[in-house]
Amino acid sequence: MQTTKSLTLDDLTSFCVRRGFFFPSGRIYGGLRGFYDYGPLGAELRKEVLDDWWYYFIRQREDIVSIHGCVITHPKTWEASGHIEAFYDYLVTCSKCGKNYRADHLLEDIGIQVSTLTAEALSSLINEKGIKCPECEGELSTPTPFNLMFTTYIGPKRDKLNEAYLRPETAQLIFTNFRDVYYTMGMKLPFGIAQIGEVFRNEISPRGFLFRLREFTQMEIEYFVNPNKLDECPLFEEIASLTVQLLPAELQEKSVDTPVRITLQEAWEKGLIHSKWHAYWIGESLRWLTRIGIDLEKIRVREHMKTELAHYALQTFDIEYYFPFMGWKEIEGISNRGSYDLKRHQEFSGRSMAIEDGDELVIPYVIEPSFGLERILLALITDAFKVIQGRPVLSLNAGVAPIKVAVFPIVDKPEFTRKAREIYKFVKKHFTAIYEEKGTIGKRYYEADEIGVPVAVTIDGLTLEEDTVTIRFRDTRKQIRVSVKELTQTLTKILQG
Ligand code: GAP
Repeated sequence: MQTTKSLTLDDLTSFCVRRGFFFPSGRIYGGLRGFYDYGPLGAELRKEVLDDWWYYFIRQREDIVSIHGCVITHPKTWEASGHIEAFYDYLVTCSKCGKNYRADHLLEDIGIQVSTLTAEALSSLINEKGIKCPECEGELSTPTPFNLMFTTYIGPKRDKLNEAYLRPETAQLIFTNFRDVYYTMGMKLPFGIAQIGEVFRNEISPRGFLFRLREFTQMEIEYFVNPNKLDECPLFEEIASLTVQLLPAELQEKSVDTPVRITLQEAWEKGLIHSKWHAYWIGESLRWLTRIGIDLEKIRVREHMKTELAHYALQTFDIEYYFPFMGWKEIEGISNRGSYDLKRHQEFSGRSMAIEDGDELVIPYVIEPSFGLERILLALITDAFKVIQGRPVLSLNAGVAPIKVAVFPIVDKPEFTRKAREIYKFVKKHFTAIYEEKGTIGKRYYEADEIGVPVAVTIDGLTLEEDTVTIRFRDTRKQIRVSVKELTQTLTKILQG
């Protein structure tokens, strides 16, 4: 079997567009940079992943509830959160052609990784390396901070007084609703509030297909813990023995880029992960990512160095996936935000954020697993994209595959197509399914393999004689014969693994 070794970002992008997973938004008008619409297969894949996340992190647990907040948000929210002051990237503009660039991306393009640097440091690196405009060789301006929030206006007057922001993260809506959720739902520490939703960032240079978008979907949990009980985690045993590839900040500060293989128990004991609850959420995130089909071997857990920590964070780990065409890239961040957000909202709103935990009154600390849906889909598709016996196969986990079953009559003759359509109608009541009667059966199998359909049901001569069909497996190409009466049960068993 060949794998994704030579897979390029262009291959993957054109595959996703050609097979109806994603389309550049506004494509008929030339597209909009940083915006992708989901096509029919992408929309199904999206739903499968979101539903599984919702089930895994909310429905099956006792300690997490959900909210669904607004996209257009009260401006005070972002003053309190620090986004107005601190949520920016550095912009440089070409003096000749006027093109804009993100300063750190220009350095990244010549192999210099910068996490956080000041405007002065970026400027002197750009000068030192003699970087000019990649389009026209023009001189570049000095880096200036550019706030990433999208602004809009509420009501008919377009002035400063009526300005509001499209949320750049879902997290803040959880903090502004914290008191209401706590009191209405009678929550007890430790507990979490989760949210899925679209967020908007006016990225200076969107790139990497789904990787850096201007509109994307976050799946976030804010998990509230008594600050004095960060190591009292009754769920820790569930993840303690999980071995991860961990790249601590202290190694990166010595320019080491090779992670250590370590269990989460050891990582906590050695003080690499500061609290048990933080280690638990790293483990639980990895368990979910592997559950939906991402290979743990292609995941590393990288700690943020002090210079790159966000203004709110005490300790942050990025869950990074190895993309063959971009290297290690963040698909999820897991931060210990301390009590920064609740304290700031308390200060800006004048409403107390302190809650009871037994006899104590505390402002909880927050551990935040923050997943970016589109980056996870990019990792899933990259991981699943294989060439088996010379043919492209999207080897997606059956649980998230957009189409679960293909139904084919062996040949396009009325006695077969009649029966096949009957079976298709009935299969479709239980699973997402496709039907095709044109072309050779081999060609139809390969087309279904390419869009990740885990199994194909074929109606042939024996079906008409003894009411049985074949089930063909995408990854092994093996076939089994089952009775039509037991088809739903058998497919359910297969698709649940
Ligand atoms: N509430 C914390 C927060 O928003 P973040 O690291 O800025 O943290 C969390 O974002 C996740 O959102 C990232 O791990 C990534 O998966 C996704 N993400 C961030 N910026 C993105 C972008 N421009 N396009 C696509 N996904 C993005």
